[in-house]
Amino acid sequence: MELRGRVGIVTGGGVRVGRAIALGLARSGVDVFIHYNRSADPAERTAEEARNLGVRAAVGSVDLSDPVNAAALVDLTQQSLGQPSILVNSASGFPSDTIADVSVDAWRATLDLTLASPVFATQAFAAALPEDLDGAVVNITDVRTQTPYREHFSYVVAKGGIDTFTKTAALQLAPRIRVNAVALGVILPPPHEDDDYASRLAADLPLARVGGTGPVVATILSLLENDFVTGEIVRVDGGGHLT
Ligand SMILES: NC(=O)c1ccc[n+]([C@@H]2O[C@H](COP(=O)([O-])OP(=O)(O)OC[C@H]3O[C@@H](n4cnc5c(N)ncnc54)[C@H](OP(=O)(O)O)[C@@H]3O)[C@@H](O)[C@H]2O)c1
Repeated sequence: MELRGRVGIVTGGGVRVGRAIALGLARSGVDVFIHYNRSADPAERTAEEARNLGVRAAVGSVDLSDPVNAAALVDLTQQSLGQPSILVNSASGFPSDTIADVSVDAWRATLDLTLASPVFATQAFAAALPEDLDGAVVNITDVRTQTPYREHFSYVVAKGGIDTFTKTAALQLAPRIRVNAVALGVILPPPHEDDDYASRLAADLPLARVGGTGPVVATILSLLENDFVTGEIVRVDGGGHLT
């Protein structure tokens, strides 16, 4: 798939991993719609950086805690930049809970934001894509769906749903739309933790370091460009799954 000249949506594109993805798309010539919830200023700064890379960029706020709102991502993109043919579902929660203490409301909140919104964003994206245009979706998941955390129960179940959603949607939306996922390991420390936190986690990895966003962006671009790959979940985890 030739990326240059396409329009792409990045959910959670104003900060951290999402921001790096948005700028990676921009560097590849994709006009980017940078979605945010609360990070209005960072999203605008990311858009400005994208424009400096020579593409068009727009920002828009959608609260994805209610999956009913997810279709607005496509509407806002069409209004600002034109028809999207790339969707990267990166926005997510990361609550701490266990099966012993999660409430029904907290469970629903995690599943709505982290699983249902990517599903309904993809549904809206597919419904809007014209017959004569191909498209690609990349979901951001977590390697810990295979080796679960002890303390992020609802999150890891929701991301496990993303894995199955990726494969099922890839089958149902083929051949016109490809759906893949990138499963992240230790990429950045959580927002309220310092670099030492991530370094401690990374010490046990075969590749013995924190990934940073570069390898994530490279993998996403490769999945977007490679027309013969769909339903794939690529781990970017420094070999963590081997130990
Ligand atoms: N960082 C890592 O090492 C790592 C590891 C494994 C997996 N991942 C996955 O990679 C992706 C990005 O991770 P990250 O660490 O960059 O995430 P993060 O810092 O936790 O950021 C969360 C993102 O989700 C958005 N978001 C939160 N609540 C929202 C809501 N109600 N409606 C719409 N958007 C909402 C935020 O938007 P605003 O800031 O605009 O509110 C923000 O862009 C996530 O899917 C995460 O699960 C990351």
